[in-house]
Amino acid sequence: MSIKHIFVVGAGTMGNGIAQTAAVSGYQVSMMDINEAAVERGQATIAKSVEKLAKKERISAEQKQSALDITGTTQLGDAAKADLVIEAATENPELKFELFQNLDEIVPKDIVLASNTSSISLTKLAAATGRPDKVVGMHFFNPVPLMSLIEIVRGLATSDAAVETALEVGRQMGKTSVVVKDSPGFVSNRILCPMINEAIYALDEGIADAEGIDTVMKLGMAHPMGPLSLADLIGIDVVLYVMEVLHRDLGDDKYRPAPLLRRMVDAGHLGRKSGKGFYEYNN
Ligand code: 3HC
Repeated sequence: MSIKHIFVVGAGTMGNGIAQTAAVSGYQVSMMDINEAAVERGQATIAKSVEKLAKKERISAEQKQSALDITGTTQLGDAAKADLVIEAATENPELKFELFQNLDEIVPKDIVLASNTSSISLTKLAAATGRPDKVVGMHFFNPVPLMSLIEIVRGLATSDAAVETALEVGRQMGKTSVVVKDSPGFVSNRILCPMINEAIYALDEGIADAEGIDTVMKLGMAHPMGPLSLADLIGIDVVLYVMEVLHRDLGDDKYRPAPLLRRMVDAGHLGRKSGKGFYEYNN
């Protein structure tokens, strides 16, 4: 089936980034969140992003307009008209299981349901629906308009056809896709989050300060951002959540979350979104 209309669930950082990327790639896009204010915040973020990208001539005036034309909605029922659903709601298992059950009732049976989950089992999400063969992971990276990877996650029951749909959409979005098996953290977060966790242990042990640790990784390993700065971008609560999933589901103490990581979340120091993480942000 040829995909023309993509329905994105969630207008937060990942949802609005995915919606923007889909719109500038030629898809008709709807973006849904639970209230008007959240939808409007997502649309405002998209407007700022495409303004910058158009100024730098990385997208055309038409592409910018397509992103500004994204339909905002608070009704999950509007997903009934889409050719593909990409779910990018808050990373909360109960919420996502319920969403997939509801989407399964709303959306025609031949439509693929994709999830941007970074840590929840795709196989379990698929099992919450009556179409486990049509549930696939499309794990995007923040900031979505700039990052060129999609991890396509194959649950135990995911069909080749659903994987092919995700690959085709990824190609049209101009991204490179890697197909991975459903396993805790997939490839990306299985490797990235333990590295960040180790940086937090190093900070807590006083091996170097935050700037020192980040500079080592930036200049010594050519990472575009240091691990602590990246934790602030991803969200420190998200990093803790992923570490807890790795620790619990792989059952190995090498994935034990750093105590300082837990304390940061307890204190509400969640990174850029809260204005304070390993660094301070004044926006
Ligand atoms: N839209 C448009 N422009 C954007 C943007 C967006 N969403 N985000 C950043 N930019 C712009 C900046 O405004 C800046 O523009 P300017 O030069 O005109 O001021 C430009 O991009 C470059 O940004 P910076 O100067 O801040 O710095 P960088 O050159 O370092 O680029 C970066 C920023 C692309 C974020 C780069 O630092 C990077 O690649 N960092 C690593 C990001 C990463 O690892 N992401 C993955 C996180 S893991 C994940 O998402 C998975 C999840 O499951 C946890």
